[in-house]
Amino acid sequence: MKTFTFLIGLSLCCKFSVFSRKIIDLSYDFGPKSISWPGNPSFNLSHLLIGKQPGGFWLEKNWFSSNEHRGTHIDAPAHFYFGSLHIHQIPLDDLIGPGIVIRATKEANENNDFVMNKDFILNWEAENGQIPHGAIILLDFDWARRYLTFDENIIFGTKTVNDVSSYHYPGIGPDAMTYLVKEKHIKAIGTDATSPDAGQAVNYPSHRICGRYNTTIIENVANLASMPIKGSTVFLAAIKLKGGSGVPARVFAILDDDSCNMAATNIMSSSLFTIMIVFSIVNCYNGI
Ligand SMILES: *[C@@H]1O[C@H](CO)[C@@H](O)[C@H](O)[C@H]1NC(C)=O
Ligand SMILES: *[C@@H]1O[C@H](CO)[C@@H](O)[C@H](O)[C@H]1NC(C)=O
Repeated sequence: MKTFTFLIGLSLCCKFSVFSRKIIDLSYDFGPKSISWPGNPSFNLSHLLIGKQPGGFWLEKNWFSSNEHRGTHIDAPAHFYFGSLHIHQIPLDDLIGPGIVIRATKEANENNDFVMNKDFILNWEAENGQIPHGAIILLDFDWARRYLTFDENIIFGTKTVNDVSSYHYPGIGPDAMTYLVKEKHIKAIGTDATSPDAGQAVNYPSHRICGRYNTTIIENVANLASMPIKGSTVFLAAIKLKGGSGVPARVFAILDDDSCNMAATNIMSSSLFTIMIVFSIVNCYNGI
């Protein structure tokens, strides 16, 4: 009976811990200040109706317009590859996956044109273990600091925002992208910069590789400094925009509660083991 009570207590404790798990918001507020590729129409949110109604209750509703690729958003594979998936076709399973954060904050600060290559990823794996299949990769270039200035010159690393060839920000190279997509079968790749292709990349090679292999991209990811390099589940909560080439998203991560889970599993299995032994002994005594 004691063991039984203990097990119930333990399962309640672990059930409870699900609610106390840490959730990290990986999205910025979506609004007029959200960063977008220069030249896009501006975001617009305006009141359709706001105020106290004749019935005595408050009512507020708005109308907004925006381009798809603004602020923290996902790119559908169709964005850069004809015939690939549009937003509404991305399987839900591809929008949830184990989070793997690859940090290159030092490299990107020292060289704004830093391009992460395959060797960098292989070294990461040598140090931190294999990237699991189906991961959602998040590249931390310490670009959040720049995003939060809301200054296009700082974010795109240029003095001439209208000249795309003058952009300087870090990204991932086609060799690394191919490795992640073809050998690691990642579901998605995110960056805290404005694009997985570095500012100086020509013709968006990494975008096109993702497009070709139906891999989703996440741009302007927030709060990567708060993320563990592994041990999380990332959610790309985007509306199912029919025919969309991209869409703003509420991206977040739930951290694994390893300490509780492991302790619980260990205690649970050892308790079960004890019960089994007790039952076997009782059964032996009873001659069953
Ligand atoms: C924003 O939307 C409202 C409502 O449709 C419209 O009246 C206004 O002209 C729009 N402003 C811009 C800058 O597009
Ligand atoms: C990507 O998705 C499209 C649309 O479903 C499909 O036709 C294409 O074969 C897929 N590409 C790959 C490499 O799986």
